[in-house]
Parts: sequence; structure tokens; C-alpha cells
Amino acid sequence: YDYDLLVVGSANADLVIGVERRPGAGETVLGSDLAVHPGGKGANQAVAAARLGARTALLARVGDDEHGRLLLDSLRAAGADTVGVLVGGAPTGVALITVDPSGDNSIVVSPGANGRLAPADVRAAASLFHASRVVSTQLEIPLETVVEVVRSLAPDSRFVLNPSPPRPLPSEVLAACDPLIVNEHEAKVILGDSAGVSDEPEDWARLLLAKGPRSVVVTLGGEGALVASSAGVTRVPSVKVEAVDTTGAGDAFTAALAWRLGTGEPLDEAAAYAARVGAATVTKEGAQVSFPTAAEVAEL
Ligand code: RIB
Ligand code: NA
Repeated sequence: YDYDLLVVGSANADLVIGVERRPGAGETVLGSDLAVHPGGKGANQAVAAARLGARTALLARVGDDEHGRLLLDSLRAAGADTVGVLVGGAPTGVALITVDPSGDNSIVVSPGANGRLAPADVRAAASLFHASRVVSTQLEIPLETVVEVVRSLAPDSRFVLNPSPPRPLPSEVLAACDPLIVNEHEAKVILGDSAGVSDEPEDWARLLLAKGPRSVVVTLGGEGALVASSAGVTRVPSVKVEAVDTTGAGDAFTAALAWRLGTGEPLDEAAAYAARVGAATVTKEGAQVSFPTAAEVAEL
């Protein structure tokens, strides 16, 4: 394989304002100076993996504009291969992000060019799929494109999905996941009505597994994560850190997990490493600009 990880997904310019609290409907609040950072769940995963040392490529679409160039620069600086980043068709995606004093964020995404990443773009990138050990994606691109990704996987490659932002998934996509990675909110949306039966994340993990994925990871923020497979459900501890900005932590977690699984590491050990990577990111502002190298993870 030429690549440890192929990420298929979104690339956004993140327009970030710090706020004391979020405004309600009809209300105006004053916030911090504006920061413009490279983001988007797909580009975040690619930068996270590349910074850790994984040979990484991104298949994505950006606009022929300033934001698109910001993203290409960030990917290249991290060492990710941008051969699969298509340019044009619509403006680069934008995420309007507020970050509160606890480091939590609220995000509204305008997909822009991400919405034009089409199944035909996936088919045209067949050589990338054949060259990649692990393929990961998220849901800031059209669902039919995600379906095409699943159909394009090389026979021995592994597929990892973080269904964010969440929506119900076709069984063809669920069955390909190894693992499906969800937080509590995403778990509830994917499970739909069946989530009402229990408040226990262990139960969600089992219910999600019954929907077809080969394995499931439920991330629980400061409580760590649960990993579930045919071998059972186990808990992975969290790493306690002072949160400054959680934006992109889930993307870095997913990328680190995907990369380590590709090296042959068992799911629980890969998840424990990914939790350390995620923790490192929340101690700094921004998404991609906060992602650690392997040496920085080792120091944590
Ligand atoms: O997961 C964090 C990301 O979500 C941000 O970088 C923003 O672009 C949105 O896609
Ligand atoms: Na961060």
C-alpha cells in the first residue's frame, strides 16, 4: 500500500468566535476577535493522521478561492497528499463556530464545494482506493458519495466511518464499518427509536453492533470510550486535560484510530492511543492547528 489512510470527506474554513454564552433567537451577543482556521471533518482527519506520521491522502473538493488555498496549505504543511483534492464547482465549505468558556463548540456548516463531491469523483479516484490500507469518511459530503466509497473499497482494505453530522444510514454502509465511531448524540440518531430503551452507553454499543458493523466505538468525552465487537464490550479510559477548544477532537480521534488499526493494532489499544491524541487537541485553540505529532502524544 502507498497510503496508510485515505480520507474521503469535507474541507471547511472555520470562522471561529469565542463567546461567554450563545445568543438565543433574536438576540445579539459580542464575542472575541474572529479567527479563520483550516477545518472540516475530512481535512481534519487527513491532517491529524499525517501529523502523527501516517502516509495519508485526502479525496475532497474545495473552491477556487482563498479558503481553498488555506486548506491546501494546511494539508501540505502536515505532509498529507493533496492529489485527490479537487478544486472548483462551488465556494469552499464554511463552518461558523462559537466556542464557549468551557471549550465546547456549536457549529453551522455551509457545505459549498463539499456538497459537490460526487460518486463520479470517487470512481475517478479508483487508484487511490487500491493504494490505501484504510479508508475513512464522515457525513459532511453527500450520502450517495459515501455509498460509492463503500463500493470502491479494495478487497483487503478497512473502512472506518464517523457519521457526523448524523443521519440514518443504509445497511450497506453500516455493514462495511470496522469500526463505526459515534458519540452519544450520533449513537441516538443512528439507533433511532431503539435508543429509547436504555440510557446505558454499553447497551447502545450492543444495539449499534446488531445493526451490522463489524465493530463499534462509542466516544464518551471525559469518560473515555467503549469499544464493541464480537469479542464483547470494553471501556477505554480517558486522559484528563484542561479543555480550551474541543473542535476537531473527534476527527483527530477517528484518524488516529484508523491509522493504528491499519498497523494491526487491536481495537482497544488503538482506541486508547486515539483518546490520547484527542485529549492533546483540546488543550489548544482551533482544529487542525491544534493536532499533535506522535512525539507530542508521547509526552502527554
Ligand atoms: O469536527 C469539527 C469540524 O466540524 C470543524 O472543523 C468544522 O469545519 C466542522 O466541519
Ligand atoms: Na483544539
